[in-house]
Amino acid sequence: MKPVTDPIRWGVAGTGGIAASFVRDFAALDDGEITAVGSRSAASAQAFAAEHDIGRAHGSYEELAADPEVDVVYVAGIHPVHAPQSCMFLDAGKHVLVEKPMALNAREADAMIDAATRNDRFLMEAMWMRFNPAHVEMMRRVDDGAIGEVRRVIADFSFALPMDEHHRLWDRDKGGGALLDLGIYPVNLAWWLLGEPHRTEVAGHVSATGVDDEVTLLCAWDGGATAALTAGLRLPGTLAARVEGTTGSIEIPAPAHATDRMTITAGGASETLESESVGLRHQVVEVHRCLRAGERESPRMPLATSRAVLARFDQIRAELGVRYDAD
Ligand SMILES: NC(=O)c1ccc[n+]([C@@H]2O[C@H](COP(=O)([O-])OP(=O)(O)OC[C@H]3O[C@@H](n4cnc5c(N)ncnc54)[C@H](OP(=O)(O)O)[C@@H]3O)[C@@H](O)[C@H]2O)c1
Repeated sequence: MKPVTDPIRWGVAGTGGIAASFVRDFAALDDGEITAVGSRSAASAQAFAAEHDIGRAHGSYEELAADPEVDVVYVAGIHPVHAPQSCMFLDAGKHVLVEKPMALNAREADAMIDAATRNDRFLMEAMWMRFNPAHVEMMRRVDDGAIGEVRRVIADFSFALPMDEHHRLWDRDKGGGALLDLGIYPVNLAWWLLGEPHRTEVAGHVSATGVDDEVTLLCAWDGGATAALTAGLRLPGTLAARVEGTTGSIEIPAPAHATDRMTITAGGASETLESESVGLRHQVVEVHRCLRAGERESPRMPLATSRAVLARFDQIRAELGVRYDAD
């Protein structure tokens, strides 16, 4: 892939909650610029551009794809638009950072990876936890043997969200459900530490709207390590995580996917790690590094891993009886 030279120019696809957080956080970087925003509606794009001081507002995603002042697009719409929009932007020659989950299923992820390969463009799932300074430091300590061999991961991402059939998390047509939106964090934590599990068993509950609103996963690795991972929309969970090794443990306080501190206990002593602030910008630093180096994907969030997580989710949803139109 041909390296992108300065300045790296971003387009934001979507004008919702995470798009606004991304733009606010991007402002803390002294590298790259957001030159354009796109939306289904011109009014929404213009309002977002005015609020965030973005020069170009497009009233369709096709217009954003055709904008010559954009090198890389952040796909920030609801889950079902991730795959079709990413493929469109890649085919238009843009690089793409796509919100989690990368797609609704593994088949869609394959189409996106094909589009990135075919067009020789960068593609990454915006799994920002893998770039969060506290988690990066945790992985460094684990790799250095701070808690011995990792044997067990316990992690939760559950909150009580009042049932509203139009809310994207409760609406099957909007890719609703706890697993894809919330469970993806505990699963990424466990897979990052231990790799892909050899076995995953699921128990859960499906809402009247047809989405998984409670999910408990039991994962097993051939070497004997295990994980208990939970996600849900119907109860306030701990939102915390705990990693246990043969000589110590790590407590990750709530919210475990976005924390700036954790406690390592080993050999009878505890140490609290405090890190640089949490934010969506740390993943942008990695996107810029990859684009400047001409790397088509990030080794920290490989496409094969994003795709394998979705393939496992496909099996889990089939067992629970949750089906999207894209399946
Ligand atoms: N990294 C994180 O911490 C984090 C946090 C929250 C969400 N997310 C991810 O970000 C994505 C968006 O979440 P959000 O909370 O920002 O969602 P949101 O505010 O409900 O919607 C985001 C955008 O999706 C588009 N959209 C909404 N309904 C649509 C429909 N029926 N058809 C087509 N497009 C539609 C809209 O864009 P336009 O109207 O402008 O076209 C909307 O602005 C999700 O995939 C989620 O997993 C990530």
